[in-house]
Amino acid sequence: MDGNGRWAQAKGLPRLAGHKAGVEPVREMVKACSELKIPVLTLYAFSTENWARPQDEVTDLMGLLSFALRREAEMLHKNHVRLSAIGHLEGLPQSVRTELERTIERLKDNTGLRLNLALNYGARQEIVDAVNRLIAEGRKSISAEELSGALYTAGLPDPDLVIRTSGEMRVSNFLLWQIAYSELYVTPVFWPDFSREHLYAALADYQSRQRRFGRL
Ligand code: IPE
Ligand code: MG
Repeated sequence: MDGNGRWAQAKGLPRLAGHKAGVEPVREMVKACSELKIPVLTLYAFSTENWARPQDEVTDLMGLLSFALRREAEMLHKNHVRLSAIGHLEGLPQSVRTELERTIERLKDNTGLRLNLALNYGARQEIVDAVNRLIAEGRKSISAEELSGALYTAGLPDPDLVIRTSGEMRVSNFLLWQIAYSELYVTPVFWPDFSREHLYAALADYQSRQRRFGRL
């Protein structure tokens, strides 16, 4: 979800206004993905690198996160959404962790869309942590399956499609291991303007692709 700041800037608004406006497309995507029976939606909400932003913005983002979790819990429940989170969750403010744990618990028996929030997430750290955990368990060598099983995403399928908004042609430390064979889709649309129609366009593009996984 990229482009909140530039969306706000283009309108002469503070960056926080862009982050606030970015909540609505999250609601829309949850509903659209639920309707389309997409099993898993992972949203990259806050990276380990985002702490380097000005303190005010970090505080705003954390406040917005716990506020949105609380406010949207009912909507998520009505849509049968189950919630999970990946990332170094221990590094999040207590207010966010409390709200996150409460919401995950509330939605835990739902069987619809799995909404997976990447929070304080960085893929390199995820891989290093996984390898260190396997070493601590006394492993001398591991298989690709074992490494997959030691990541935050253990048990989740690898993404079929990665959508990046705001036109940036990079992966920015997102699910590096898991997106080895994912299809990538970049749209110039800023995240706050990303609508159902944009999602459908991305899915139609995805459907037109031939996935060969290295074969012929
Ligand atoms: C995405 O929008 C939101 C987060 C990373 C939390 P940005 O804040 O990165 O917006 P730009 O890239 O400055 O436009
Ligand atoms: Mg950005």
